[in-house]
Amino acid sequence: MSIPVDDPTSLSRLFHLNSEPWLNEEAYRAAPYVQEVRSYPDAPRTRLPAAPDGAVQTLAARRRSVRAFAPAPLPLATLAAMLRATYGVLGPDPMQGGGRFLRRAVPSAGGLYPLELYLLVNRVAGVAPGIYHVDAIGEALEQVSDAPWQSGAAEIFYTWPFVEQAPVILCLGAVFGRAQKKYGPRGYRYILLEAGHAAQNLCLAAAEAGLDTLCMGGYRDMALNRLIGLEAPAEGVVYTIALGTAA
Ligand SMILES: Cc1cc2nc3c(=O)[nH]c(=O)nc-3n(C[C@H](O)[C@H](O)[C@H](O)COP(=O)(O)O)c2cc1C
Repeated sequence: MSIPVDDPTSLSRLFHLNSEPWLNEEAYRAAPYVQEVRSYPDAPRTRLPAAPDGAVQTLAARRRSVRAFAPAPLPLATLAAMLRATYGVLGPDPMQGGGRFLRRAVPSAGGLYPLELYLLVNRVAGVAPGIYHVDAIGEALEQVSDAPWQSGAAEIFYTWPFVEQAPVILCLGAVFGRAQKKYGPRGYRYILLEAGHAAQNLCLAAAEAGLDTLCMGGYRDMALNRLIGLEAPAEGVVYTIALGTAA
């Protein structure tokens, strides 16, 4: 069954705008949660043999959510490496468009790369606190605001003050039309999936560098979009990740 819409974006916009954090008090009170996992006890079983851990498995085991960060500044070169791993440009894609198309560090539906990275910088060596856009092609930080973003952060992030000391919070912004002009309503899904790819890249790169992360979906969309200067509903932050070193 599908609800008829005569344009590619209304449904997803309706959902997006109506999925601000939902404070389900009862569920929060019920913590610690019971984890559910499926099994088919009567089905024929094939045991998975033991195998040595590869690099990804080792990093995945090292990654964990951190909710207390040390106040030490992050070196700019380390931040640069993290940004390249997250969504960096790898170079021309020889399979497409005679090299006019670029490959990046994540798979992207149609190679459309709908994400734009923004940074809330708190403590990065050589970078003034403020809000920055990451120019992926020019490999530069573009300061879009020098406003003291931290003064309003408690109103935006549900996890504040756990991430107050984090040197930087990465905000994955989506330009929805980039994917939806091709994929319509389904493009919205693709954008969220791609954000997951990028966030996981960052988490694993951080684990490799001895850094820590907290992936956060709990933020007020409209307030964060306004802070960064994203124009809802055509664009908006879809995921945020605090980066630093555990206290
Ligand atoms: C999509 C998503 C959103 C999340 N949002 C938050 C959040 O807003 N605040 C928070 O403290 N943790 C958040 N988490 C982190 C989870 O609580 C955490 O990953 C989970 O408890 C498992 O622990 P681990 O990451 O240490 O393995 C989020 C994780 C995911 C995947």
